Amino acid sequence: MHIARTPDELRAALAGRQHPAFVPTMGNLHDGHIALVRQARTLGDCTVASIFVNRLQFLPHEDFDSYPRTFAADCAALEAAGCDVLFAPREADLYPEPQTFRVQPDPALADLLEGRFRPGFFGGVCTVVLKLFALVLGRTGGTAVFGQKDYQQLLVVRRMVQQFALPVQVVAGATQRAPDGLALSSRNGYLSPAERAEATALPQALARLATAWAATAPATPEAQAALEAEALHTLRARGWEPDYLTVRRRSDLLPPTASDAPGSLVALGAAKLGRTRLIDNLEC
Ligand code: PAF
Repeated sequence: MHIARTPDELRAALAGRQHPAFVPTMGNLHDGHIALVRQARTLGDCTVASIFVNRLQFLPHEDFDSYPRTFAADCAALEAAGCDVLFAPREADLYPEPQTFRVQPDPALADLLEGRFRPGFFGGVCTVVLKLFALVLGRTGGTAVFGQKDYQQLLVVRRMVQQFALPVQVVAGATQRAPDGLALSSRNGYLSPAERAEATALPQALARLATAWAATAPATPEAQAALEAEALHTLRARGWEPDYLTVRRRSDLLPPTASDAPGSLVALGAAKLGRTRLIDNLEC
């Protein structure tokens, strides 16, 4: 695996490649990321991963400084998965001057759900992703693989690609789960053993919410809010601090209307367990 630290090194590593398949990450890789890399291997003539902890997508009180940097282990895992090129820029290489031009995603999509609780998050994600796309895929076009666990991020990136007519095909990678159902996430590493055991309550709450939704097909905002309130209450009673547990349309993440068929919805949740904020989703 070739490790490129600068845009120039990356350009040299990609010379002659016609269709890179790209997996952007912030490192601290787990089997969910590795599954995305394996998927990418089937989608291009060169598999590229990036590791960059992007300051622009963290709020001041969030975990930018403490975000685990596990470069040696990440390199070994990427190499074993058959990644061809790793782009791992230092901050000064990706942002050689202050990044004063920013992408402003459509608030109708980016200010909901995650965006409501992490203002500016998707602007920071889009800004770095646009820049990474330009560097990795800009010369040839290509494919980028994003995990479905970050459901809203996937939608926001798809919209950005569409709105800016970027030469990028965005492909979704299925969420990888531990045997007990917890979605794999870099932040699972923050959980104490007791919290790790409790963490399965989030996917369970989403599954119950999805089942109750399918059984009752609530059409009014009041009926929808009642089902969501029940799910929130269940998690709160177990000591969680949920931000949201909700069912939305897959297409735009707005609340479903009576004409939205089952099979076109997704249950999404975010909740804090101790100091760790977990997110998950389940299509329904
Ligand atoms: O999903 C992530 O790890 C990040 O948001 C991404 C897409 C690598 C941008 O920093």
